[in-house]
Amino acid sequence: MSWPTGQFALQFSLRYADYEKYGQCYGKEWMTMFEVTDLKPRIGSRIETDLESLTSGKYSAEILRLIEQRGVLLFRGLDITDEDQLAIANSLGPTGDKDVGVIYKVSQDKEQNPTHYLYNRGNFSWHIDRTDTDVPPHITMLCAKKLAPSDGETEFANTCAAYEDLPEDDKQLIDGLKVLHRVSASFRETVPDPTDEMRELWDIRPDKVHPLVWRHRNGRKSLITSTSGLEVIGMGKDEGAALLAKMMAWATQPEYVYVHDWQLGDLVMWDNTGTMHRARQYDLDCGRLMHRAVVLGDEPFDTEQPPMAA
Ligand SMILES: [Fe+2]
Repeated sequence: MSWPTGQFALQFSLRYADYEKYGQCYGKEWMTMFEVTDLKPRIGSRIETDLESLTSGKYSAEILRLIEQRGVLLFRGLDITDEDQLAIANSLGPTGDKDVGVIYKVSQDKEQNPTHYLYNRGNFSWHIDRTDTDVPPHITMLCAKKLAPSDGETEFANTCAAYEDLPEDDKQLIDGLKVLHRVSASFRETVPDPTDEMRELWDIRPDKVHPLVWRHRNGRKSLITSTSGLEVIGMGKDEGAALLAKMMAWATQPEYVYVHDWQLGDLVMWDNTGTMHRARQYDLDCGRLMHRAVVLGDEPFDTEQPPMAA
């Protein structure tokens, strides 16, 4: 057998090095690039591939598997249009949001997002998307269109790993507990003095009761620790608040968190069923803009209760 030479040899050695270093090397065709690099040990991976492979859905099975394992996936330097972003999202499952459409502008600017810019103030608190529903989105993805000149990183926490590591006493304590979620609760810290317009916007969304522990169909469990959690059912107000604060502090320890420092054009997608996220505070007038697409979910927060008919 003769060894490959030239450019081919270079690619071979790079890929072999990646395999050795990370123990992961994906791709069914030899010359097709699909390389995975972990961002932190417990959360986040960067995938290097080409845009055509990504939009074609060629690697959708691998991406779905990786997002379940790693929580957050980063794709960098691909010059992704809205059309591309939708194609990527559609390759992973049915897309859309009946309230805001298929491409939603995440912006604090009234010009960019006249109907929901105030709603986006809640992005600064840890949350799982759409705790005001029975069946939240599976995957949310953002593409960076305009960056904040400073700050504005997005933080992600792995709520599966956080649950796994909980002391056994705490697992027993929270087993079976349910939590009342209210959208306005997500704004308690970042908007302590809301306007009537803000309140009206938040109060459109219904209260929901979800378990504190999400029992996923794949056998995993994760914490449902969004700041929309207001009180623990059947527990005194102070005692419940203390428990929710304790779980939130546990789940956001540095080992479970990946902080994404955005570059223009970055596409970041996350498993909304196994992570929570927040944006770090930035200047509200700076024009920071992300385009969001959502892959719909089919797993209710409470897997023991069938979702209510809409
Ligand atoms: Fe969000």
